Amino acid sequence: MAERSQPIQIDASLLQKYGEALGSIGWQIEGGIVRPVYSAAWVQARGQLAEWMRAAGLDVREDSVGNLFGRLRGADESRTILTGSHLDTVPLGGKFDGASGILAGLVALVALREQAGQPRRTLEVVALCEEEGSRFPAHYWGTRGILGLIQADELEHLRDDQGMTISEAMRAAGLSPEHLREAVRHDLDAFIELHIEQGRILFDERVDLGIVQAIVGLQHRWVTVKGRADHAGTTPMYLRRDALQGAAQMAVEITRLVEQEGRPAVVTIGKWEVKPGAVNVIPEEVGFSIDLRHPEEETKQRLASAIGARCAAIAQERGLTVSSEISSDSLPSSMDPALQSVLIQAAETCGASWKAMPSGAGHDSQEMARHLPTAMLFVPSVEGRSHSAAEYTTPEDAARGATVLATALYQLAY
Ligand code: GLV
Ligand code: MN
Ligand code: MN
Repeated sequence: MAERSQPIQIDASLLQKYGEALGSIGWQIEGGIVRPVYSAAWVQARGQLAEWMRAAGLDVREDSVGNLFGRLRGADESRTILTGSHLDTVPLGGKFDGASGILAGLVALVALREQAGQPRRTLEVVALCEEEGSRFPAHYWGTRGILGLIQADELEHLRDDQGMTISEAMRAAGLSPEHLREAVRHDLDAFIELHIEQGRILFDERVDLGIVQAIVGLQHRWVTVKGRADHAGTTPMYLRRDALQGAAQMAVEITRLVEQEGRPAVVTIGKWEVKPGAVNVIPEEVGFSIDLRHPEEETKQRLASAIGARCAAIAQERGLTVSSEISSDSLPSSMDPALQSVLIQAAETCGASWKAMPSGAGHDSQEMARHLPTAMLFVPSVEGRSHSAAEYTTPEDAARGATVLATALYQLAY
């Protein structure tokens, strides 16, 4: 590893210009942005990134899943250090979640090429796809493609809200799902992801950077409550089997259970569907999502069981049925200690204050870390806002993060 006593200087105005341009690609609704994986907006954003990568003198390549790579070839081409993050957004999300990490990686490689020349090990920046699971229930899809973790049957089983399968959407975006396995990489030595914190610790404590120690485990579940559709005017209250009343009680009880557990357990019920969904029909079926997170797997599973038992009891009391399906369940994961030290050393070289911290948000790094040394660098989110149009990281904080990233990549690859 090359020691470096001076920071690598990134071009802060280029980073800001790219951030604004990328943030304008996507459907702009109510101040928020929507850039679902494989959509026209996503294809456009990826095309723009590829153009910037080419202009930076990087070799550009996309894999069969849709991940986009910009490569700065090293003297040893057989081993690669990867940096980057995801290009997709949540519905009505912000412009910084995911995009910040891709653009920091891009300007870091631009600066390294100019200031340090050819690296010893190859460096790549990646724009990963469908981290959020916003269009398809397919968290970390691009990362799972790289790691060889996508199951062939997922291609036909995973559907978006319009009923389109993920393989159809891939084809519509010009990709070839039948060549899925070609995305698998065996040459990766490390993954370093810069990301916005999405919480308010760094902002409140006025610390420049977060060095992530571990990422929470996250379970997503879809619950279906079934009752009976009846006439809203003629069915007395005591005869009703109203799926919505049961589901509403479940939502309240689930929240109470997790509140009783206390921090850092969190639960969110963010998606809700009522059928048939008419003002004068007693709801027959209600579906809702549960997002449950905890940094200890045992506690997460205990809470999941308690939630299941409470929902079953409520359904029984009300003459309803309840079933649920887990759409994703990721284990908590630890970041690589040696890479954390490299990030800390780079932060100190750059004169940035830092704090070791856990991540309550899920990230591609979570999956990467199970297969290769991985580390994450957080930059502050103003007022901790994220997954909302209010998401914001100052240009100064973004530039400081990219400088530290570039300096750490120098240490790893030169
Ligand atoms: C990913 O952004 C998550 O939901 O934590
Ligand atoms: Mn997100
Ligand atoms: Mn993210």
